[in-house]
Amino acid sequence: MSSPVAGNPILIRGRLLSFITEPESAEDRASYRYEEDGGLLLRGGRIESVGDYAQVAAAAGEDVEVVDHRPHLIMPGFIDAHAHMPQMQVIASYGAELLDWLNNYTFPAETEFANAGHAGRIAGHFLDTLIAHGTTTVAAYCSVHRESAEALFEAALLRDMRIIAGKVMMDRNAPGGLRDTPQSSYDDTKALIARWHGRGRLSYAITPRFAITSTPEQMDMAGALALEFPSLHIQTHLSENHAEIGLTNELYPDCGDYFGVYERYCLAGPKSLFGHAIHLSEREADAMSDSGSVAVFCPTSNLFLGSGLFDYQRYRRRSKPLRIAAATDVGGGTNYSMLRTMDEGYKVIALNGEKLNPLAAYWQITLGNAKALSFDRQIGALDEGYEADLVVLDARATPAMIIRAEKIETLAEELFLLQTLGDDRAIVETYVAGKAMKDKAVRD
Ligand code: GUN
Ligand code: ZN
Repeated sequence: MSSPVAGNPILIRGRLLSFITEPESAEDRASYRYEEDGGLLLRGGRIESVGDYAQVAAAAGEDVEVVDHRPHLIMPGFIDAHAHMPQMQVIASYGAELLDWLNNYTFPAETEFANAGHAGRIAGHFLDTLIAHGTTTVAAYCSVHRESAEALFEAALLRDMRIIAGKVMMDRNAPGGLRDTPQSSYDDTKALIARWHGRGRLSYAITPRFAITSTPEQMDMAGALALEFPSLHIQTHLSENHAEIGLTNELYPDCGDYFGVYERYCLAGPKSLFGHAIHLSEREADAMSDSGSVAVFCPTSNLFLGSGLFDYQRYRRRSKPLRIAAATDVGGGTNYSMLRTMDEGYKVIALNGEKLNPLAAYWQITLGNAKALSFDRQIGALDEGYEADLVVLDARATPAMIIRAEKIETLAEELFLLQTLGDDRAIVETYVAGKAMKDKAVRD
């Protein structure tokens, strides 16, 4: 694959959908902008103008290449707020809850990422697979090895993707080939920040894997990094599974509760992304809300590992609401698609006796996740000046979808069909920084 160039401007035509606010219902027309015959002029990796096709085309002039995606629906590229790059060969590992799943499948697979060749190969596949599923931004975990983060950032730079990523810090309760030390995790993280953060569209996330795999000394180092680099994201796991919570409380008896561990080491805050956050006490939820921390909903993973039902609507409605993101959590999660993720999310929310309206689901995986990642001035909307990350969706991508679509009358129904029956087959194209990338995958 050649390295990205800003490329010639292109004028994209299709049905445009972009959210303005979180939709309160499927009838909340004020929450989004929709153009039945819309135009998007992409130049230099950004959206230069957007609106009615005839107007955008007239202003664009004659020399612009036109790509006509009618009758398909064009939205901001999907955002995945939590996934594990080194778990591509862990997905679909049978029959274990979290801690056994980590020990039996995940840790052995991650050990292989000491090999830079292996890390490079999987990193490329990881990003290409996400792109094929319509995802243009991911917050990703790498393995403990510095090489794995080098590989993922290199691959993202080559594709000009906006990603957030970090090497996991882990110095206990893991096999020898998968442990660093407090000092080496600090040094490696600092070196990776210096080399990659702010290059292209890359952001570094300080990534202590979770409290169980870090000694207090390493948590101190993670906290020191957080204080040294206060604008960086932090990502970790929280309250996913009862055995995990029990062991955490044993390992950190003085912290009161699981979230208290992260508070103790200065790791809570508006740039902090807490994967799972299923079994929170009211105190923990209040503290998360007060600190502006983000709870990341990972429905396919939470179901697959039998972890529990994230109470999305209660978290939103509580007097101190939580900031929420949605994510695949591949490879605990079972699909790369944010459509499949929100389908399973809908069912988890239904099991909690609630509903998620289709508009809200798409808000969540575009502007909602952009807000949760503090990138809502760059991505998540089809607005002038925004980065040109787009997904083109076909609600009639399969025979089953075609038959069902005969009975569809509203935009919300079309979105719900895409979410319920759709997957990568429904992704017609994915634009990354203004370039069509769905079929550009590197294969080896
Ligand atoms: N907790 C700590 N590490 C992991 C991981 O890799 N996946 C999931 N689902 N939970 C974790
Ligand atoms: Zn995870």
